[in-house]
Amino acid sequence: MNQNQEQVQTRRRFIKTSVGVLGALSAGRLLAFEDGPNFDRCPECTAISAFKPPQTTQLSASVHQFDVGDGQLSWGYAYNESFPGPVLEAYRGSNVRIRFQNFLDDHTTVHWHGMVVPHAVDGHPLNVVLPGEDFIYQFPIVQRACLNWYHPHPHEMTGEQVNLGLAGPFIIRDEEESMLELPVGSYEVPLIIRDAKFDSQGNLRYSAGASGFFGDVPLANGKQNAALSIDTEVYRFRILNGCNARVWRLALSNGAAFTLIGNDGGLLEFPVDLTEIEFGPGERLDLLVDFRDASVGNQFRFVDLDENWDLIEFTVTNSVQPVFSVPGPTDRLSVISPLVNPVRTREFTFEGHSRINGLEYDMNRIDFEVPFAETELWRFITGGNGPHPVHVHGASFQVLSRSGGRNMLFPWESGWKDTVLVGDGETVEVLTRFDVYDDQVYLMHCHLLEHEDNGMMTNFRVLPR
Ligand code: C2O
Ligand code: CU
Ligand code: CU
Repeated sequence: MNQNQEQVQTRRRFIKTSVGVLGALSAGRLLAFEDGPNFDRCPECTAISAFKPPQTTQLSASVHQFDVGDGQLSWGYAYNESFPGPVLEAYRGSNVRIRFQNFLDDHTTVHWHGMVVPHAVDGHPLNVVLPGEDFIYQFPIVQRACLNWYHPHPHEMTGEQVNLGLAGPFIIRDEEESMLELPVGSYEVPLIIRDAKFDSQGNLRYSAGASGFFGDVPLANGKQNAALSIDTEVYRFRILNGCNARVWRLALSNGAAFTLIGNDGGLLEFPVDLTEIEFGPGERLDLLVDFRDASVGNQFRFVDLDENWDLIEFTVTNSVQPVFSVPGPTDRLSVISPLVNPVRTREFTFEGHSRINGLEYDMNRIDFEVPFAETELWRFITGGNGPHPVHVHGASFQVLSRSGGRNMLFPWESGWKDTVLVGDGETVEVLTRFDVYDDQVYLMHCHLLEHEDNGMMTNFRVLPR
């Protein structure tokens, strides 16, 4: 069957084929680092050697052919021959040890976006893994439960390598979160939503201008026309905007509300009911969607309101006695201590498509130094060409204010974040504090990957304590 014939298959068939693959992503949690029930063994650990060696998990990057939905086969890059990469899962207090093998023809690195890890295992562009080589990424999990993700971070090639398929979810668990008894198993669905372009052969094609890669097809967990069979239950969707450049405006097709319970850095203090969320590359959402009152045969979709795209279709196929519930607006999920009294302020202006404070990235230049464990206010200002999803390595931050542009903060920007959208005309202030690892070089950059690759990135050093 040629590609055109494939594409005229009915939606019904997509439902059948795609479900298996989404199921496989959830079931693909082979790589759990369960190091006992002792979640908080070492919350403040600063030395990997403080942990007993865990078993080694293998992760590879290779050129691979995979099904991008509707039976269409595409060549691309894959972690463990899977697109997207396998779901990694680890408990707080455990130690992660991943032997990474690079089977690509290019050098790469693996960055653990959102994870607080030392520079040496942060996937910094200086620390490349050459073709045919391997590298052991080993670090303890020192932070609260949240959805992070892993992706390449090589100098000037991040956009291409991510776009061709290298990205995967990394879920951290802890005791606070497990006590909430949120939906688990097949009711907890990691969802990487991104856009893509295909060439005439049906292969993923990366081509982008200075303002970023914009594809013409949405993919959910690597599939176009993605579909999932669901039960009459509450579902927990762990969603990553995995686009290089595109901002999603996510909603349900029937306009119904869903419940936001978390974001980049884990649980919010209280659930919030919303009907749409605008979130940029690298940002994550933790959503509960209540399908308990649905009937077999009902269909729902996640849509993007800007492009009017269907992102994934849900069909109710099974009526069950629900066991999960949705917390109400006054049910506390977590306690978040606000960062207060910043000791200094830094300003960063994101200019053109490639500069921060007038400079393009230089791997070997350290642009500023941050004292260990001091709260600072960082002010992100756009000099045009926004939105810039600004991302910081090495710590989470709290968003304090947005002035100009949209001129407000949104519920999904409360709690702990590591990526924040700075739109045109906007100034966004965040409070941050690097208090886990001292004497480390970390990155701050625009997560619009073409801006990053063009140089909109900076090195800073967290000083020795
Ligand atoms: Cu997700 Cu420095 O990146
Ligand atoms: Cu990162
Ligand atoms: Cu940017």
